[in-house]
Amino acid sequence: MFSPAKSLLRKASRKGYAVPAFNTSNLEVTAALFEAAEKAKSPLMIQTTESSIRYAGFENLFSIISTFEKRAGIPVCIHLDHGKDMNIIKKSLKFGYKSIMIDASKYSFKKNIAITKRVVAMAKRKGCSVEAEIGTLGRPGKGDFTVPDEACEFVERTGCDSLAVAIGTSHGAHKFKGTPKLDLQRLKQINEVVSIPLVLHGASSVPKGIVNNANRYGAAIKRAKGVPEGQIKKAIKLGIAKINLDTDLRLAFTASLREFLKKNPSQFDPRKYLASSEDAVKELALGKMALFGSRGKAR
Ligand code: 13P
Ligand code: G3H
Ligand code: ZN
Repeated sequence: MFSPAKSLLRKASRKGYAVPAFNTSNLEVTAALFEAAEKAKSPLMIQTTESSIRYAGFENLFSIISTFEKRAGIPVCIHLDHGKDMNIIKKSLKFGYKSIMIDASKYSFKKNIAITKRVVAMAKRKGCSVEAEIGTLGRPGKGDFTVPDEACEFVERTGCDSLAVAIGTSHGAHKFKGTPKLDLQRLKQINEVVSIPLVLHGASSVPKGIVNNANRYGAAIKRAKGVPEGQIKKAIKLGIAKINLDTDLRLAFTASLREFLKKNPSQFDPRKYLASSEDAVKELALGKMALFGSRGKAR
């Protein structure tokens, strides 16, 4: 049985660590994430976006994740990441997702509240938690950061269970032009007025070693920059209880795939080169669990 998000996130907030919330869209990444979480004895939020659902097929992806969960000896919550399409949201609730994100952050404050409230009402009937977002991550350096007083009012009026905040992160491998910097003062202020767990999206660190390795074996990933690990640690101390990560997993997977194929040019068995990528994702995930402080917190 999937675990409710509420208990996972409340425990993380209480104990001062963050639950790793990793995206998946296939068998190999899912296997790697479960292996890592079991090895680290870490709770796990495994999340699917609408595009990963469209890529893999809803039933396929859900049954892969459920099959791993049934054998797992750790608490696992399945989460819909950046839900926008009401049909996918409704289907997630039907399948038994324990957590969904409604991302209406591109709308006005008023409209974001109205849409989020509607989803909260639907989800509550199914015992599912809702993550909402206020402020926008936007293009590097361009988002509208979360305003603490608005965050407080938003949470009161919508009844959402966790809140994604915009404090300077963005999705992908190009998060900053100049020096990477999060608005931690703003996070502190939000945490003082909002009592529910806070979520950090766009939290990949874009490790230089992995990017360089990918480039050495044929990639062309230029001027990539992520969130320094020290800032992630500070953000956890200031109330971040769930950390979303996708880009670093993709980079680890791709760098390993490129290296393997370059070094084994006669190899054409997907099971061989995908196994090397699976290992790379597992190692990456293990490092993140150490960074987020979630190791050993499965019980
Ligand atoms: P990254 O692109 O930094 O990995 O963020 C992923 C994310 O926020 C998924 O919701
Ligand atoms: O926001 C989360 C992802 O990093 C983007 O995911 O390409 O599956 O939509 P996607
Ligand atoms: Zn995100």
